Amino acid sequence: MRFAHAILATAAATATAIVIPSDHVIHEKRATPGTFNRRRLEPHVRLPMRIGLKSNKVARESAEKWLMDVSHPKSTQYGKHWTQEEVVSAFAPAEDTVNAVTDWLGDSGGIEKARITPTKNKAWVAFDVTVEEAERLLMTEYFESDDGERRTVGCDQYHLPSHLLEHVDYVTPGVKGLHFKPSKEKVLSKRDSNQANRRKIFEPSPPSQSNSSSLDTCDQMITHECIRALYNIPFPDPGAKVSPNNTMGIYLLSSAYAQEDLDMFFSNFTPYIANGTAPILNSINGGVAPVDVFHAGPEACMDLQLAIPLIHPQNTTVYQVDDDFWTAEQATKGGMFNTFLDAIDGSYCTYEAYGEQGDNPDFDPVYPNEREGGYKGERMCGVYKPTNVISISYMKDESELPAAYQKRQCDEWLKLGLQGVSVFVASGDSGVGDLPKPDSPNGCLRNGTVFTPGHPNTCPWLTSVGATKVYPGKTVFDPESAANNLADETYYFPYSSGGGFSNVFGVPKYQSEAVRDYFETADPGYPHYYDGNWQNSTGLYNRNGRGFPDVAANGDNIVAAFDGSIHMTGGTSAAAPIFASVVNMINEERIKIGKGPVGFINPVLYASPEVLNDIKNGSNPGCGTNGFDASKGWDPLTGLGTPDYPRMLDLFMSLP
Ligand SMILES: *[C@@H]1O[C@H](CO)[C@@H](O)[C@H](O)[C@H]1NC(C)=O
Ligand SMILES: *[C@@H]1O[C@H](CO)[C@@H](O)[C@H](O)[C@H]1NC(C)=O
Ligand SMILES: *[C@@H]1O[C@H](CO)[C@@H](O)[C@H](O)[C@H]1NC(C)=O
Ligand SMILES: *[C@@H]1O[C@H](CO)[C@@H](O)[C@H](O)[C@H]1NC(C)=O
Ligand SMILES: *[C@@H]1O[C@H](CO)[C@@H](O)[C@H](O)[C@H]1NC(C)=O
Ligand SMILES: *[C@@H]1O[C@H](CO)[C@@H](O)[C@H](O)[C@H]1NC(C)=O
Ligand SMILES: *[C@@H]1O[C@H](CO)[C@@H](O)[C@H](O)[C@H]1NC(C)=O
Repeated sequence: MRFAHAILATAAATATAIVIPSDHVIHEKRATPGTFNRRRLEPHVRLPMRIGLKSNKVARESAEKWLMDVSHPKSTQYGKHWTQEEVVSAFAPAEDTVNAVTDWLGDSGGIEKARITPTKNKAWVAFDVTVEEAERLLMTEYFESDDGERRTVGCDQYHLPSHLLEHVDYVTPGVKGLHFKPSKEKVLSKRDSNQANRRKIFEPSPPSQSNSSSLDTCDQMITHECIRALYNIPFPDPGAKVSPNNTMGIYLLSSAYAQEDLDMFFSNFTPYIANGTAPILNSINGGVAPVDVFHAGPEACMDLQLAIPLIHPQNTTVYQVDDDFWTAEQATKGGMFNTFLDAIDGSYCTYEAYGEQGDNPDFDPVYPNEREGGYKGERMCGVYKPTNVISISYMKDESELPAAYQKRQCDEWLKLGLQGVSVFVASGDSGVGDLPKPDSPNGCLRNGTVFTPGHPNTCPWLTSVGATKVYPGKTVFDPESAANNLADETYYFPYSSGGGFSNVFGVPKYQSEAVRDYFETADPGYPHYYDGNWQNSTGLYNRNGRGFPDVAANGDNIVAAFDGSIHMTGGTSAAAPIFASVVNMINEERIKIGKGPVGFINPVLYASPEVLNDIKNGSNPGCGTNGFDASKGWDPLTGLGTPDYPRMLDLFMSLP
């Protein structure tokens, strides 16, 4: 209140000459200074100031090694995961950073320690200053501007003593302004377009000759019997005693389940699951579940109907993320995971890295949400514990989000791995391409030619899951092939398994041999580039990028109850919860003998690919090409292959 009021007290701009001492340098500078109507702020106006500290350099440089220490099978520290507190303090700015900044504030600005607001996280130093103090401290001039939509306080450039450059990331208000009025109301819209299976079409009903306890029809309809037979997963023991700390997490956005649909599925296909069996709900920022049968979403219904009967009697936990009241602009541009990560790790709310200062309001929802019906609470930070396994069937193009945004978030997936959390993400349903975009009917870049890798799959610190299929005439005892229904235009869900190479992230060490082998044996011969800079190259993909997916599981002809009836569905959206369920079951067995969860599994799997069923047939067309071919060993459409539960279990049980 005080701030909003004080802002009105402004004066006409006056030019003042500022003398900059030689030990000071410009820290941040606006590219286009002084463009719009602006007024100099009066000296007595008070500003809430925040100095963002550089996160710990040692942590940035050591993070990959730390993760490998706890997840590489050859490491003596395997399985010795960190607590969340240990992770937070390892990544917090170093003590000398905090001291350098507070000393400077006291010595040069007369802002003694008592005026600094204590913050639980150590990512920034916050205090109130008058404009006069701030201008003296930063050798700048503060202005207020109003572009008709929002009013902003900021400066064109500011100075810091050079010895602080290694410690300070940003100052707000500064070049990055401080908005104190929301943008004008925009059209409301529901975001439901980001599910990996967002163009999924449901067939009216499954084949009539279906017999849910027969393996004969698995080429037409995938039931739990088919999944268990494919991957040698044991039938659940309803009487088994399960750990209260090993429920399986499922991330859901704009898609919630209806209990009626779950019950309909259980009673038809998995009668060993009692009606009324439901996930535990962790609602984040106004996420609502369950909903009535008319508002239920296919993603939620399918994910839960796959996971619950596989991991039974273990429970599922739904992370139902965000209210649905985004602006139309946010709905198309939006990132999807930052508010979720905030809710399971409070330190992420304020984690700065790569120039990204916490969540990015251009891409992430801002709470409280002032729009009608929006969530009125504060954004949730650290209110839930992450489950040991998290399954995510949502993705979008890397090219739709800034690289820095993705890198900052990727650090967080790494931190979850450090804590023993396994994250599985669907690799996408458009082969090497993407869904149509306004400027590109095939979703591909540069005139529809350049492949479009999927976020967040390309972060090397999570497990990306592609999809396989039991083709007509094949049985669950034949090898599966990569899912690809694009040749058949009449198919109810034409798609091909997402995969390719990142333009943002390089090949991680644990994967480099697999990628090299792939190019030695199955190089499709497309022109490529080596630096991720697709804009200025003639190639189709980045030869030096992190390859995805890592693994695969069945994702076609999946039977699910949705909308009050039984449907056929599929996509990598199904593959992710199936693979995640297998790992959840392995964690259960490890916990029983006093071991911890497996955490980030990629280093183990790339070192022991024989525990998976290598998929060697199929391709993932897109962008006017045949995409990549499945091959012996890892490939960028089915990864290392599908799970074999007994072999995976043996391996992970043998690890400490
Ligand atoms: C379904 O399949 C099972 C196992 O193959 C068989 O015993 C049963 O008779 C079949 N039921 C129908 C209705 O076909
Ligand atoms: C699973 O959920 C049910 C119902 O909410 C609850 O009674 C049971 O204790 C839960 N079990 C575990 C292992 O969390
Ligand atoms: C597991 O859950 C139980 C019961 O909620 C709790 O007492 C215990 O501390 C938990 N163990 C771990 C390792 O979190
Ligand atoms: C379970 O719920 C389904 C769907 O509402 C219903 O058809 C079925 O009769 C119920 N089963 C039992 C045992 O109540
Ligand atoms: C895209 O296609 C248009 C029309 O064929 C052509 O003029 C343009 O140079 C192409 N752009 C790139 C980046 O290849
Ligand atoms: C591509 O090249 C042009 C011309 O050299 C340059 O202006 C542009 O910044 C480059 N784009 C990227 C993404 O490197
Ligand atoms: C290989 O995959 C194609 C689809 O890409 C499928 O039609 C064919 O049956 C598969 N062949 C074998 C031997 O599985």
